[in-house]
Amino acid sequence: VPVAPFDLVIFGGTGDLAQRKLLPALFHRDSDGQFSDDSRIVAVSRGEMEHAAYVDWVREALIGRIDGEFDEKVWSRFAQRLHHVQLDLADGDDWSALAAPLDAEGRRTRVFYLATAPSLFGTVAGRLDAAGLVDANARIVLEKPVGHDFDSARAINDAVGAVFDESQIYRIDHYLGKETVQNVLALRFGNSLFEPLWARGAVDHVQITVAEDIGVGQRFDFYQRTGALRDMVQNHMLQLLCMVAMEAPASMHHDDIRNEKIKVMRALKPITAEGVDRVSVRGRYTAGIVDREPVAGYAEEGGTRDAPAEADTETFVALKAEIDNWRWNGTPFYLRTGKRMARKLSEIVFQFKPVPHSIFGEQPLEPNRLVLSLQPEEGVQLTLMTKEPGPGGFRMRSLPLNLNFPDAFSVTYPDAYERLLMEVLRGNPALFMRRDEIEAAWQWIDRIIDSWASRGVRTHEYMAGSWGPTDSFVLLDRDGRRWAQPI
Ligand code: BG6
Repeated sequence: VPVAPFDLVIFGGTGDLAQRKLLPALFHRDSDGQFSDDSRIVAVSRGEMEHAAYVDWVREALIGRIDGEFDEKVWSRFAQRLHHVQLDLADGDDWSALAAPLDAEGRRTRVFYLATAPSLFGTVAGRLDAAGLVDANARIVLEKPVGHDFDSARAINDAVGAVFDESQIYRIDHYLGKETVQNVLALRFGNSLFEPLWARGAVDHVQITVAEDIGVGQRFDFYQRTGALRDMVQNHMLQLLCMVAMEAPASMHHDDIRNEKIKVMRALKPITAEGVDRVSVRGRYTAGIVDREPVAGYAEEGGTRDAPAEADTETFVALKAEIDNWRWNGTPFYLRTGKRMARKLSEIVFQFKPVPHSIFGEQPLEPNRLVLSLQPEEGVQLTLMTKEPGPGGFRMRSLPLNLNFPDAFSVTYPDAYERLLMEVLRGNPALFMRRDEIEAAWQWIDRIIDSWASRGVRTHEYMAGSWGPTDSFVLLDRDGRRWAQPI
């Protein structure tokens, strides 16, 4: 069923995100027949661009990025929707040009997608309001990062909140749009099997890894200001942690889910200066080999730019997070993320406790492990101890029960942005972050950054193509544990 007609205005409409993610996602949804004929896509950018040149640019952006063959029929429908408006967001241009392609009668849902620097979020909201473009039905989408720390996030939320009601604000964390992340809900609350085991009594600890093989590349300047803790942990990793650690929400209603997530966020034990070096590790990659290709180190990627070594930005971070509540007290959550690691791998591992007593003598028994694989493989694995076949002796071996989602459903999984854009158009904010979640996450993160600063915690080098600095292994080793990967 097509969604209600819409005007989707993308600020940063010719930028990297629009090109790589938003336009291909919209094209895929259009080819599935989900958009009514009168829905429009309006790109706003600073540069002057003739209509025809913009349409050509979009075509170029789509070719090669969309799945399957490029369907000319869909394209001609899609091209009809496209408009380009030139506006310099930073100066006080007249915004009336933006009103032209929009429906003045309020028959189409108005969505403003801000794929710009977060420092512009408040300004844009204010200008939209001043230009009389915000109706009661309008929605605004904020790309991450919302701010750089708690204060800036709060300032942005205040400024946007002065124009839009919280129910109209969609803060994106694209990890929540990933099918496998939503499957965490299905797995936990659609099966009765796990719930009795999903707690401190049975779970020894949890590991969340988001490893990437790519480096910072073109985004060096952004990374230099940001670092992995702000770029990955504040949002994606904390959202994953909340999804697996939260209590059962009463329903799938967005506030039921978000109310449970925020409780986890608030129960996170602050990482203070005292002992920060025992529960956190910062890393930065040096030159190495990824996928059999030699690659440059982080500092070299900065080229001649200002003293990259000085800022000591981390491209890797590992943390021991603790949740101070009844369910999880004493069960640590180890988080780890980095660029230029051995391979792309995102997974959540539940490591269960060992059996209380082994009847198998000296034979080592491996405690059960439940692995939720997010990418690149998507599935669920449960390791079980089994008996090796054979008449002599009694030999035990750990084997996985393996559920691979793409095989089971015979589909390729859509990109997270397809799902998220549709949820915005449908008006369902469940997969987006509420104001209090973002701010609570920043409070926890700011504390870590302050602790690092006050204790002078520096980055440790790791070679590109490795699994991170040795200290990240020591982090678990100290507690008598090991990362599940590499095995
Ligand atoms: C983004 C980060 O939010 O997520 C990037 O800014 C990172 O640094 C990306 O590469 C990872 O997303 P995905 O979907 O490829 O895991």
